[in-house]
Amino acid sequence: MSESMQGLKRTHRCAEVSSGNIGETVTVMGWAQRRRNLGALIFVDLRDRSGLLQIVFDENSVGSGGFAKAATIRNEFVLAVTGTAQKREAAVNENLKTGDIELIAKEIRILSESETPPFPIEEDSQTKDELRLKYRYLDLRRPDLQRNMMLRSKVAYLMREFMAKEGFLEIETPILCKSTPEGARDYLVPSRIHAGKFYALPQSPQLYKQLLMCSGYDRYFQIAKCFRDEDLRADRQPEFTQADMELSFVDMDDVIDVNERLLKYVFQEAAGVELTLPFPRMPWQEAMDRFGSDKPDTRFGMELTDVSTVVKDCGFGVFTGALNEGGSVRGINVKGCGAMPRKKIDKLAEFAKGCGAKGLAYLVINEDGSYKSSFAKFMTESELSGLVSAMDGKAGDLLLFAADKNKIVWNVLGALRLMMAKELGLLDESKFHFLWITDFPLFEWSEEENRYMAMHHPFTMPKEEDLDKIDVNPASVRAEAYDIVLNGTELGGGSVRIHQNDIQEKMFQALGFSKESAYEQFGFLLDAFRYGVPPHAGLAYGLDRMVMHLARTDSIRDVIAFPKVKDASCLMTEAPGEVEAAQLQELSLNIKTQEAQS
Ligand code: AMO
Ligand code: AMP
Repeated sequence: MSESMQGLKRTHRCAEVSSGNIGETVTVMGWAQRRRNLGALIFVDLRDRSGLLQIVFDENSVGSGGFAKAATIRNEFVLAVTGTAQKREAAVNENLKTGDIELIAKEIRILSESETPPFPIEEDSQTKDELRLKYRYLDLRRPDLQRNMMLRSKVAYLMREFMAKEGFLEIETPILCKSTPEGARDYLVPSRIHAGKFYALPQSPQLYKQLLMCSGYDRYFQIAKCFRDEDLRADRQPEFTQADMELSFVDMDDVIDVNERLLKYVFQEAAGVELTLPFPRMPWQEAMDRFGSDKPDTRFGMELTDVSTVVKDCGFGVFTGALNEGGSVRGINVKGCGAMPRKKIDKLAEFAKGCGAKGLAYLVINEDGSYKSSFAKFMTESELSGLVSAMDGKAGDLLLFAADKNKIVWNVLGALRLMMAKELGLLDESKFHFLWITDFPLFEWSEEENRYMAMHHPFTMPKEEDLDKIDVNPASVRAEAYDIVLNGTELGGGSVRIHQNDIQEKMFQALGFSKESAYEQFGFLLDAFRYGVPPHAGLAYGLDRMVMHLARTDSIRDVIAFPKVKDASCLMTEAPGEVEAAQLQELSLNIKTQEAQS
């Protein structure tokens, strides 16, 4: 039977009761974690989001009715208990914040009963993800998730506080927007009033924040929901949250300065992590050459070495073939792993193929100085020793090589480097390596579309010294863009924006937009720029990713209250769902069945 809490007021959260309250009457409310009957005494651990408090039911203090009630308590019953805090006489629990006290119940009310939950509500659940997500409201009761959610709230609060002090205004931007391509796939919302037309959910507040700069709100900030219909991974959700900002009358250094101070403040206050400023900066080209990634994890070495010049005339056709096609040959030295069994090396080759490689060449330096290798037979002794010395190979090392177009070589070795580091335990969880990546290419060639695409977005400013190359050699133009990387995750990114019409026009030309089509899509922004636009720049963080690192978990699902799974569905609500025929009709939509489509 559920009782009301009329006449009772909660005085403390469970873990807020401390030895300072000994002798006082307190009222706590929460969920029963577990009950133990010891004949004359009943113990119940009561849980709320602050933690646990041990309640003792003794017939002498709670009365026979109360004692009988306590005997019916089962896990997850919701209780209100008034009692006297006292020092624990026995079984002091050092692991518990309230481990040295307990509450002697004087009154107990069962506010709500509970069925047996489908999995135990406890720290470090071993329950399968699917079940936890189906019953996410129960999963969210677990202390580790509750800590994550509280941390997330604190991070958002700290950011708002810092940004407000720095003179940023928090301004909301629309969720129902116009679809503009150039980015990930949009989520579309059909319009009822305008049959056949669609809104798009924002992939980011990018265009609106630039318009706000035109309107004079020279420092804008927003914690904004963003939507992208892209393949999901551990650090990607279809809807996620950005901590988004834009500033007027600034250059890249100004943006970096305020953001370094923001990160230092948030990491210190939210997690006690002391960061040293300034963070290192690394040009994109260097990041790719050294780490094979534009978001390098710099907590360990195992850097890439370009051996193209060393092997250019060697007898191994795989290497020279790749070089003749304009590619490169690069390797990593997995120190001390020369004893890796052949089967395992074959697995690495399979992994490399999964990353787009045609194969993976290896060379083991045996303890006696001889080699075991997939390609040694194609090379002379001196070619081999040249290669080994270029790789700083020592007895017992495993050298792995990829030969292909640069993009593939980087991708393969960058991924292998990370995988090997994980396996070898080289990732120091206590380190927070921040790094700015700068000087990104402005464009990226798209094989799919057979044209250049903007690497960041079409409003990103080219580097001034590269401006004259936009028409003649787009691939060589670098952007005034920057990413902030933490331990191998792209935490955020931004750029200085184009505010000059002539540069914007050149940019659209290079991207293959006609004047008309550029105007059709971005006309409102181009128009706004005709009426006085300040130079501006900005950046956005993936807030989920930031909290993920602060919470030291490896999936953003652990820091999002109601996340979606890999196929973008919600196991709890079963979204997306079908809708009534009448709703479709109102929206002038017809659903084609699979058969009708084929
Ligand atoms: P960008 O596309 O780099 O830049 O996004 C900024 C940051 O958002 C996070 N992020 C995601 N997090 C979770 N799930 C996703 N699907 C996802 N996609 C992106 C990343 C990323 O660094 N408007 C620009 C920013 C700017 O130029 O000011 C933008 O959206 O952490
Ligand atoms: P093959 O001559 O094709 O049998 O290849 C000999 C060795 O080179 C094998 O270990 C292959 O996995 C490896 N290999 C093949 N293609 C590449 C490539 N593009 N880059 C690096 N190694 C490769």
